[in-house]
Amino acid sequence: MDKILEKLKKQALDEFTKIKNSQELEDLRIKYLGRNGELTKLLKELKDLAEEEKPRVGKLANEVKLALAEKLDDLSLHLQGKAKNSIAQATDLTLPGQPVKTGSLHPNTIIQYELEDVFKALGFRVLEGPDIESEYYNFEALNIPDDHPARDMQDTFWLTSGEVLKTHTSAMQVRAMEKYGAPLRAIFPGRCFRYEATDASHDSTFYQLEGLMIDQNISIANLIAVMKELLKGVFGKEVKVRQRPGYFPFVEPGFELDINCLICGGKGCSVCKQTGWLELLPCGLVHPNVIKAGGLDPEKYNGFAFGLGLTRLVMMKYGIDDIRLLQSGDLRFLKQF
Ligand code: DAH
Repeated sequence: MDKILEKLKKQALDEFTKIKNSQELEDLRIKYLGRNGELTKLLKELKDLAEEEKPRVGKLANEVKLALAEKLDDLSLHLQGKAKNSIAQATDLTLPGQPVKTGSLHPNTIIQYELEDVFKALGFRVLEGPDIESEYYNFEALNIPDDHPARDMQDTFWLTSGEVLKTHTSAMQVRAMEKYGAPLRAIFPGRCFRYEATDASHDSTFYQLEGLMIDQNISIANLIAVMKELLKGVFGKEVKVRQRPGYFPFVEPGFELDINCLICGGKGCSVCKQTGWLELLPCGLVHPNVIKAGGLDPEKYNGFAFGLGLTRLVMMKYGIDDIRLLQSGDLRFLKQF
């Protein structure tokens, strides 16, 4: 019996060395270890052995079985590894890659970058201010003292610290003059906050892009020329505009530059409040008190400022008829850009 077992083991291991694929491996597993396999048959015969022989031969038979099973497992792993390698070798590295899903820029950001390019080409620098602003820069330095009724024009979020969530990007005007002096050309894109009742054209968070140019002998003609350049850059075509006097404590004179509503073509809709016009570009010549607050001599320097409603512009450009979509985080909306 011992000899038969040894012979079987040798024969099996010999055959195992010739295995080329997993099918052959499975065939040999069945041949030796299957229910009617050669080793299995021998194991069944153990019961006919003499009592004193049983433990020794039984042990040997078990060892042979384990040795064969182990070898088959090794071979199986080896074959699997080989299969993986052959797949790797078959990979054509010159094939184009799998497309990766990437995000896209928010429409606000797209327009902001476009505007930054227009202004950089005109020699303006791009500055950003803090979202939490002092009362001084947001109001006082802009010629809006504590008791001034103009403070009521902006529904402000006040913080317990006495600071505010900046209500407009104009808050950067005096900061910029203090830091860079004159002459100065700068734009300040930024997020603004107002305690608003929301509707299709008002949200408590929105974006503006402020512009400031300070130099000697700046006139309204300079202001209008830059505004026209801005609108051309954004819309890529002439847009109908109208200019009206407007009151803002930090400019004198002040204007409202309205554009023809592009959503309804001037017929009247919910975005333009049925007027056909959209307030887009309040602007004016910087008030001497603001120049003074910026540490400059208003006898020597003057300039213009404008506060573009960036969010409104985005709505016009893309035909978005509800401002609330912009902050909704709704992917069905965002994926369109
Ligand atoms: N800061 C004003 C607002 O949010 C807009 C504005 C008006 C800005 C006139 C200006 C300006 O720079 O000259 O209502």
